[in-house]
Amino acid sequence: MKLQQRTKHITKSIFFILLSLLLINCANEEKTTPKTNAVDDKIEARINEILAKMTLEEKIGQTNLRGTSSRVEGQLPEELKTAVRNGEIGAFLNVMNLDYVKELQKIAVEESPNGIPLIFARDVIHGFKTLFPIPLGLAASWDAETARVSSEIAAFEASSAGIRWTFAPMLDIARDSRWGRIAESPGEDPYLASILGKAYVEGFQSNDLSSPTSMAACAKHFIGYGAAIGGRDYNTVNLSEPLLRNIYLPPFKSAIDAGAATVMSSFNEVNGIPVTGNEFLLKDVLRGELNFDGFVVSDWDSTVEMIAHGFARDEKHAGELSAIAGLDMEMSSEAYENHLKKLIEEGKVTEAQLDEFAKNIVRIKLRLNLFENPYIPKDHTGNLYAEAHLAEAKKAAIKSTVLLKNESILPLKETTKVAVIGPMANKPHEQLGTWSFDGERTHTNTPTIAFEKANVNFQFVEGLTYSRDKTTKGFGEAIRAAKNADVILFFGGEEAILSGEAHSRANIDLPGAQVELLKELAKTGKPIVLVIMAGRPITITNIIDDVDAVLMAWHPGTMGGEALREIIFGISEPQGRLPVSWPKTAGQLPYFYNHKNTGRPAEADQFTQMDSIPIGVWQSSLGNDSHYLDIGYTPHFPFGYGLSYTEFKYENVAVSNDTINFNKELTITASITNTGKRDGTELVQLYVQDVVGSITRPIRELKRFEHIHLKSGETKEVTFKISSEDLKFVNHKLIDAAEEGKFNVWVGPNAAQGLESSFYLKE
Ligand code: BGC
Repeated sequence: MKLQQRTKHITKSIFFILLSLLLINCANEEKTTPKTNAVDDKIEARINEILAKMTLEEKIGQTNLRGTSSRVEGQLPEELKTAVRNGEIGAFLNVMNLDYVKELQKIAVEESPNGIPLIFARDVIHGFKTLFPIPLGLAASWDAETARVSSEIAAFEASSAGIRWTFAPMLDIARDSRWGRIAESPGEDPYLASILGKAYVEGFQSNDLSSPTSMAACAKHFIGYGAAIGGRDYNTVNLSEPLLRNIYLPPFKSAIDAGAATVMSSFNEVNGIPVTGNEFLLKDVLRGELNFDGFVVSDWDSTVEMIAHGFARDEKHAGELSAIAGLDMEMSSEAYENHLKKLIEEGKVTEAQLDEFAKNIVRIKLRLNLFENPYIPKDHTGNLYAEAHLAEAKKAAIKSTVLLKNESILPLKETTKVAVIGPMANKPHEQLGTWSFDGERTHTNTPTIAFEKANVNFQFVEGLTYSRDKTTKGFGEAIRAAKNADVILFFGGEEAILSGEAHSRANIDLPGAQVELLKELAKTGKPIVLVIMAGRPITITNIIDDVDAVLMAWHPGTMGGEALREIIFGISEPQGRLPVSWPKTAGQLPYFYNHKNTGRPAEADQFTQMDSIPIGVWQSSLGNDSHYLDIGYTPHFPFGYGLSYTEFKYENVAVSNDTINFNKELTITASITNTGKRDGTELVQLYVQDVVGSITRPIRELKRFEHIHLKSGETKEVTFKISSEDLKFVNHKLIDAAEEGKFNVWVGPNAAQGLESSFYLKE
């Protein structure tokens, strides 16, 4: 929509925002409000009524999600309209022309046999027009409210384009930063991911799916996609059931409990069976155990990809396997459309199974209120890029930015003369990150734009024109600018295209000649602040000693520039903490803080550094523990890590009881003091270790966290409560229970530090 039109609609849009906020508040106030997935007898009766009128062909039609490329412009093919008219299509993906959306919906509602409305879907992953930080960045906020608000705004904007279904949240636990899709993930921890998963669903679905400004969420990719061997996208996944249930399943459970309307089956296989044809995962686990009653959509072509997997013989067999497994809707491929009728006639798939699919899909269409309200409300403009949306995007970027190193250089004084250098300093498209189809470059606030607006005393010399640039021709000018300044601000990292789907990297250093340029700049003796914009942790062991400060901004979205300006000049503090362990080198991956101890746990005094080994030495098991000779066993920065502009001291950790019984609460307290000169916010984290288990247990597991704001000199006592419910895990016999014994607990600023105490759990 053009700017003038947008302005004209602004008042009406504000009305819509107020209306939707009102609806949300009502939903929040009324704690007993049924979740969007609660069984509604009226809806179930309506489904049966509709189903009774549907032919076999129309039921199959509902299972078809027709995909088009991400930007369909131009004329709609006539045959698509005919297919909708005949009831052969249930949903569309990526139809971005408002007239087409309207026309297709009108045909579906007025001319198709039973008037079943279509759903229009799109990957609205971290915003529609107003882009928020990439999901890994949002995860670094460790803040449910940030996740909720970002997805609520995304839904509000996207629904104005007729999109009522998003393929988000992505809830794949990611333990390997080489994997490109780590950018879309909630990080490596199941507890944090579960909290975020719930918040995303609540935001997208506005706690009320029937609102025309909501979108149906899609918990994806079910399941284990992030466990791809070696971080290579789409790769094979082997997961023991305890691992599946203790690490990979919890975020999906949380999203489904929060009412996620749909789930996407992932591309990968799990233990030899592709998920899209995996009856155990889609029926027993998803329906049986997680009580999911929405619909499952395949990932793009994942049905027919079972042929390449070597699991299905051909398209028909792929359709049969998916149908038996319980896949409701097929994205893009046409195995159901081409073969389901025949498979039913041959008795290979039951009609009752197809009825289930149609029911599940119609149920969500009813919950979206599409039968009563199939069109975009006339006055709903989405208030695209509204001031309020941009303000939230800026806030989210501030909350996501992680300060990794600071040799007393940040924040800079307002008067500091800075040389702005680097390939990411003014890259409106790149800072938006992966899945940013709809956010326009012209609306992106880059660091240089923000600096100009605020009259910062700076000179901008890019040095390198894009992140992979290997030429050194710009170095001279960059060095001259550096010499002329008090401080060098280097904006480096990865372009958007280097992370995301099918964008795994084996080496995750700064690409191109960035390290070379930084080394040259370091020779000027001027302090360097390295700001990284990237879709994953970037290994910086080769440069960390040459720079004075490091800020990880992820791909920060539309308002990244202004957020970084505020942080750099101390108007705001960097509040993010790492949602993934930050490796020293890619050779260390996969790495995750909640690993097991092994029989020979790595310890500092056992570590033998490679260069200290005498030449020609006799064969021996050096150190006899689980480490690498060259880089040891710790990550560069641990999970949960992040500095602040002030310092915090942890003291007096205490547990309320040495022993607790099952289902009794334990209180853990610690006092935290802001010992620095600035006020600041700390993320206090609680970790637990189950010392002995019927299967071996992780060395630490995150159980609680809390942000506290402390004035300079102020002390606060933080109280966490846990019970045996929090200590449950699934063992090799698939018993889901807490076990008696000793537990260690830590209260601290990250997964590698903290004050320790312990308690016993007894019957
Ligand atoms: C991705 C999904 C995405 C779908 C539709 C697939 O390639 O794996 O995450 O939702 O495409 O765009």
